[in-house]
Amino acid sequence: MCGIVGYVGPRDAAPILIEGLRRLEYRGYDSAGIAVMTANGKVFIEKKAGKLTNLTEHLNGDTPAGGPGIGHTRWATHGLPNDTNAHPHADCTGQLALIHNGIIENYVEIKARLVAEGHRFISETDTEVLAHLIETKYHGDLVEAVRAALGEVRGAYAIGVMHTDHPERIVGARMNVPLIVGLGDGEGFLASDVPAILEHTKNVVILHEGDIADVTPTGTRILSLDGTEVQRDTTEIRWDIEAAEKGGFPHFTLKEIYEQPHAIQESLRGRVAANGSVRLTELDGVADRLREIDRVYIVGCGTASYAAHVAAYLIQEWVGIPATMQVGSEMRYSPPPLDERTLVIGVSQSGETADTLAPLKLAAERGAAIVVVTNVVGSAITRAADAVCYLQAGPEIAVASTKAFVTQVLVLQMIALHLAGLRGTMPSNRIRTYGLALRTLPRLAAQTLKLAPQIKKLAQRFAGARDFIFIGRGVGFPIAMEGALKLKELSYVHAEGYAAGELKHGPIALLDPETPLVAIATQGAIYEKVASNVAEARARSAPVIAIATEGDDQIDHYAQDVIYVPETPEAISPVIAVLPLQILAYEIAVARGTDVDQPRNLAKSVTVE
Ligand code: G6P
Repeated sequence: MCGIVGYVGPRDAAPILIEGLRRLEYRGYDSAGIAVMTANGKVFIEKKAGKLTNLTEHLNGDTPAGGPGIGHTRWATHGLPNDTNAHPHADCTGQLALIHNGIIENYVEIKARLVAEGHRFISETDTEVLAHLIETKYHGDLVEAVRAALGEVRGAYAIGVMHTDHPERIVGARMNVPLIVGLGDGEGFLASDVPAILEHTKNVVILHEGDIADVTPTGTRILSLDGTEVQRDTTEIRWDIEAAEKGGFPHFTLKEIYEQPHAIQESLRGRVAANGSVRLTELDGVADRLREIDRVYIVGCGTASYAAHVAAYLIQEWVGIPATMQVGSEMRYSPPPLDERTLVIGVSQSGETADTLAPLKLAAERGAAIVVVTNVVGSAITRAADAVCYLQAGPEIAVASTKAFVTQVLVLQMIALHLAGLRGTMPSNRIRTYGLALRTLPRLAAQTLKLAPQIKKLAQRFAGARDFIFIGRGVGFPIAMEGALKLKELSYVHAEGYAAGELKHGPIALLDPETPLVAIATQGAIYEKVASNVAEARARSAPVIAIATEGDDQIDHYAQDVIYVPETPEAISPVIAVLPLQILAYEIAVARGTDVDQPRNLAKSVTVE
């Protein structure tokens, strides 16, 4: 995905755009660029491959006065991440500049037509066709030209467009990719996400699919693709820009790791009562459907898929119906049976991951009930849903997920308990016991984070390892996979997560004295089995690091290094067991000198399939 930002108003646009891009860089960092209308009515465009700092160093503070302006930070899809393919793109006249997040699926045919008509293309991007297509439709009315052009394209887009004939206007449009309008005092903004404009305004309009926004300093008009004017609500953002700052931490990743006790607290708020009873009022509207369902699929990508995996185990155990995790990118094209008696739970921090959205839409078409778990208010996934449960974790800026994962697991645990209560599959006193255990998690998480110095020392010892193996069983298995993914993402060290019992069926061949094995060996029904799997690894001379429960006096027979975490019921344990793994990955990454907050090749969420 990419980040886009736009400004129209009395101030110079360039500094506002560059600051906005800095806050959007988590969305992609293959290139950055800005376009600004200068005082003499020309469009100034500067763009550079690589991170935003390449652009700002190149500009060296020498940005033109004037506005409006648009800016873009790219996660490359079509065309190499070089200067030419960087956005903004211009039309043949050089009067129109455009930025785009998404993919234009029919760009090849449109491009061929435009080339035949004599348009000159400079880049290899799909985006450039939009600039030229709008040019062909332009007869003085920019909004109308954008509308006419978008009528011919297929795919996903959030765009920002400016034209030298319109010094008081930027035009935005959205389809399947987020875009918001910021309403300032005598100024207007466009942005992919709130942090880009939060220091200027807290009043935003979250555009709907197919909306076209005509943003001017005096107000914004919104049209649908068929040209009719539509009204959209203004949302007041309730968090401050400090929430999107590092606040003294060296990295967002570390800040977000330490925010977890608070994020857990916020996630629990209003959902688990003081007596432990669990109820998510968000699900009241779908209660009848939840009583009727006979199977559950929980879908997500990357980290979210591991949270989904934990939930599948718990729903199956507590609700007694088949529940499986589905990887978003697979489910759409190899769908399981879906009908009105199916519940599909979509899990996505950003709420805009295309691979997760696509199967949810398919499931909705086939009549399934859709519940989503997301962090971003008004995100695309919420529109595909019958009910929405927000993480309430606050903004997550670091590309690799930490507090969103923990709160995803937590919200899914609460959904599982809610379902068990609704369907009478678990006695209410047992639900309350789990609810009370959930209420201890903010304190236990804070206690676990105090292990950071011990984990840092371990990380420094193992920072040179080439491969890591993570194992866990039951709900510990997805945690092993999340631990491995975190290490891969943050430090680029090869790591794999396996079901502990599977180790002996193949992966054990990888073990040697140079390959650390990280075992999730917290207390639970199958603790002894995991301990045996650890022993098997130890016998092959692998250095073993165990995550075990405080008071375990057995595990140090098998593992040289043990990280003791506070005790919880087994079903709740993933929330705590994952914390040392996050710190381990973070500290190994720091020791290896990688770009922790913005790992190479990644973007925080990916809006293409
Ligand atoms: C990207 C990120 C991952 C993330 C995944 C799902 O691939 O790099 O860290 O887990 O998207 O993101 P979501 O916003 O849907 O939870």
